[in-house]
Amino acid sequence: MAEREREPAGWQLEQSAPEAYERYLVPPMFAPWAERLIDATDFERDDRVLDVGCGTGIVARRITDRPGGVGTVVGLDINEKMLEVAETAAAKSQLEIEWRRGDVTDLPFSDGAFDVVLCQQALQFVTDPSAAFREMRRVLGPGGRVAASVWRPLEYNSGYVELAEALERHVGDDAETMMRSPFPEWTGEDLGTLVRDAGFSESLRTIEIGSMRYPSVEEFVRREAASSPLSEPLGNIEPDVREALIEEVRNALEDYIDDEGIVFPMESHLLTAQR
Ligand SMILES: C[S@@+](CC[C@H](N)C(=O)[O-])C[C@H]1O[C@@H](n2cnc3c(N)ncnc32)[C@H](O)[C@@H]1O
Repeated sequence: MAEREREPAGWQLEQSAPEAYERYLVPPMFAPWAERLIDATDFERDDRVLDVGCGTGIVARRITDRPGGVGTVVGLDINEKMLEVAETAAAKSQLEIEWRRGDVTDLPFSDGAFDVVLCQQALQFVTDPSAAFREMRRVLGPGGRVAASVWRPLEYNSGYVELAEALERHVGDDAETMMRSPFPEWTGEDLGTLVRDAGFSESLRTIEIGSMRYPSVEEFVRREAASSPLSEPLGNIEPDVREALIEEVRNALEDYIDDEGIVFPMESHLLTAQR
């Protein structure tokens, strides 16, 4: 790792959060997890695939690009700005994907319009996840398959435990709540119940363990700030508060610091089911 990359980059959170998400979080985190989701799913050549809560579209892009290919791919998200970044990234790689704005609890598609529905790390942000699963089943045809991933609770994602606690002390409750929101208190059994109650017949749950690496503690905090709704509360904090925040995270995560920066384990539920 070049020394230059380890230098704090300051708090110029100049990009939009979706651009920062695509630049900082997708390559080291969401792209490798997208591969796991795709590997856990059976595809056939003519499958019509829907990626719900697609964000900047990494799952949709990886499926479209996979050897063997699939029939058609649609990415749907509630956030227009995420979709704009998705569209630009797909166009750059000349991938044919349809991007739609919509809510997973009220999908703008007819019954049975897809063969596969995928959802990576979005259900925890949905106000009614039961309705989301019902809708995902409704738009699947006979033999349809769903695969979804949701981070395990915060205590299984140690880097973010320490960041959330430091944010609470140095920035406030809202910043802490935002940092906790991707990690719901759901057990695998909770997810299994949601899927069964939605009418899916067979399901399989696995616990997946990976890791996340940042070039430094400063970059861990800064990139998380830039790539999420935290860009607002963290964009304007005083330098001394920022330093105290980073110092606290550095001390708490001392055991995960190595010559290449900082690395820590991340755990996710992965669920697959048949219509
Ligand atoms: C952490 S991002 C994950 C994005 C993408 N699946 C990925 O792996 O990079 C969560 C996404 O869920 C979207 N989202 C949240 N609630 C939604 C809803 N009700 N319907 C559709 N998308 C939603 C957000 O806009 C955001 O893009």
